[in-house]
Amino acid sequence: MPRKRIYLMCSPKHFAVEYAINPWMDVTAAVDAELAVKQWDGLRETLVGLGHDVRLLTPQPGLPDMVYAANGAFVVDGTVYGARFKHAQRSAEATAHRAFYQSRGWHFIAPTVTNEGEGDFVYLPAAHGGLVLAGYGFRTEPAAHAEAQEALGRPVVSVRLVDPRFYHLDVALASIDDRNIAYYPGAFSTASQKVLAQLFPEAVVADDVDALAFGLNLVSDGRNVVLNSEATGLADKLAAAGYQPVPVALAELRKGGGSVKCCIAELRH
Ligand code: ARG
Repeated sequence: MPRKRIYLMCSPKHFAVEYAINPWMDVTAAVDAELAVKQWDGLRETLVGLGHDVRLLTPQPGLPDMVYAANGAFVVDGTVYGARFKHAQRSAEATAHRAFYQSRGWHFIAPTVTNEGEGDFVYLPAAHGGLVLAGYGFRTEPAAHAEAQEALGRPVVSVRLVDPRFYHLDVALASIDDRNIAYYPGAFSTASQKVLAQLFPEAVVADDVDALAFGLNLVSDGRNVVLNSEATGLADKLAAAGYQPVPVALAELRKGGGSVKCCIAELRH
C-alpha cells in the first residue's frame, strides 16, 4: 500500500562538477545546470503528482552538490541525526540542513562522527519492528552507526560497501516498502551479502546493469517506485514483484554521481 510521504529537496540551481570525490565525477565534462534544474523539476512534479508533500531547502552558491539533499541528515520518528560530511567541499551543507530542522522545531541531534545522512542510512519501519541499515567503507564511519542507534533508539545493522562506484549505501540498496528492499549484492562484502540475504529473503535482487544505471538510487512510497529511466531492467523486476515503476529522466545529475534518491530526504514525523 502506498503511504503519503514528506520529502525534502534542494534545487540544482548551483549544480556543477567542480571537484571529484566519487568515480562518477569528471571535472572536464560539461554540465548543463539549466537541464539539471529542468530534470529535477520533473522529479519534484512526479512526487507531487503521486500525492506526496515536497518541502524545499534553499540552494546556496558555492555548494554545487547541495542538490543531493539525501546526505544532509537522517530522520526517524521526529528525531534528526545530523550529517557530518567526509569532504570539506560539502561540509557547509550540514549546517544548512541543521538550520532547516532547528528552525522548524525538529529534535536535532548533532553528530560527532562522519556520516552522510540518508546516503548511508536506510530506515525500514516494519522490518523487525523498525530497522536501520547503515553502510560504511567509503563515507560514513562505522562509529556513526552506533551513534545513530543511540540517537534514534532503533537497531542499526552495519553493512560494508566494497566497490567505489557504489560509495554510498543508497546507490546500491533501497527500501521498496516498509519491510523490503531492492539491492545489488556485488556492492557489498561477502559477509554483508549474507546478512542482507538473511534479513531480506524476499528482496528484489538487481544485477550490475541495473545498479550501474543508478536504478537502485530510487524512492518508493510502498507501491510507486520512482527510479532513473535508464534502469529499465530493474523497472521490469519491480513490476513483476507487484510494484509500480515510475521512470524519471535525471541524466544530468548522474554527472555528480547521483540520481533520484540522492535528491530526496524523507522527513519522518
Ligand atoms: N557528488 C556527491 C558526492 O559525491 C554525490 C552525492 C550523492 N548522494 C547520495 N545520496 N548518494 O558526495
